[in-house]
Amino acid sequence: MSDIIAEINRAVSEAEGRAAAAAAAAEIEAVRIDYLGRNGLFPALSRRMGEIPPELRRAAGGAFNAGRTRIQAAIEAAQQRLASGGEEKDAIDLTLPGRRGAAGRIHPISRTAEECAEIFRRMGFIAVDGPEIEDIYHNFDALNTPMDHPSRDPQDTFYFPDGRILRSQTSPVQIRVMETHTPPVRIVAPGRVFRRDTPDATHGMNFHQIEGLYVDKNVSMADLKSVLQRFAHEMFGPDVRIRLRPHFFPFTEPSVEYDFSCVVCGGKGCNVCKNSGWIEIAGAGMVDPAVFKAVGYDPAVWSGFAFGLGIERLAMLRHRIPDLRLLYENDVRFLRQF
Ligand code: PHE
Repeated sequence: MSDIIAEINRAVSEAEGRAAAAAAAAEIEAVRIDYLGRNGLFPALSRRMGEIPPELRRAAGGAFNAGRTRIQAAIEAAQQRLASGGEEKDAIDLTLPGRRGAAGRIHPISRTAEECAEIFRRMGFIAVDGPEIEDIYHNFDALNTPMDHPSRDPQDTFYFPDGRILRSQTSPVQIRVMETHTPPVRIVAPGRVFRRDTPDATHGMNFHQIEGLYVDKNVSMADLKSVLQRFAHEMFGPDVRIRLRPHFFPFTEPSVEYDFSCVVCGGKGCNVCKNSGWIEIAGAGMVDPAVFKAVGYDPAVWSGFAFGLGIERLAMLRHRIPDLRLLYENDVRFLRQF
């Protein structure tokens, strides 16, 4: 009667072999059904235990229990092997590192504009927005630049059939703010501007400026200079010096262009500053009384200064970008560096 023990052992090694070779969950389940299922081999063996002589029953029972445990273990091992990526083709390997999503980043022009606005914010200026599609009145006339004024020529821009234009400068935001607010005024207006220009390494038909306007009583040129000086230090470090040169803008009087000492060579002269030691940054000046009149401010009471900065130029200086067009080509190999 010991052949029942031999039968159990044969069944166990057969079941272990099938479980180890199983390549799909269905094959493992078939092993369970064949050996341990209600109509499987082990329940049938169990029913035959009664026929076994009492002196052998103990040994047969031990072999039966041990065999059932081994088959169960073989089934579990096979299930784990499949779950961890074994042979089943749609299994998931939970131990693999995740795939990183492609995160975008802020464009260097936007970043530089935000940094400028933040520097001026710390000096008490709030950032405001204005429309890119402007009317000629706000872009030129209210800024003391009438139809026949030669200053309109270098700022020729793009026209809509209804007479509106793409703004050629952020200065019209000065007008829009003063039309809707009473002084004192302390704003900066970053944004995109458009000009009829032939693209080259330092020119494009659209670029970005940040405009500043400060209106209060007894504002002087010294206030303008100290704000620009502070900005230069915050942006490029404490060693940068600034200089103002006489210039002309229709909407400021007196007007200046201002330069930073070269942030690359420190003023000694290099190819970035064309050996002059200075880099031209933008224009500024004291608000012209004609502009105050256009917005209904009394020029006898109010005084102020305005300035404009070119964002691309600042970004190029900060990051040593040699050609403005790189900023507009959307080449991720370039943009990824920032
Ligand atoms: N709007 C002028 C330009 O685009 C710059 C400027 C702004 C000058 C404010 C003076 C005051 O050239």
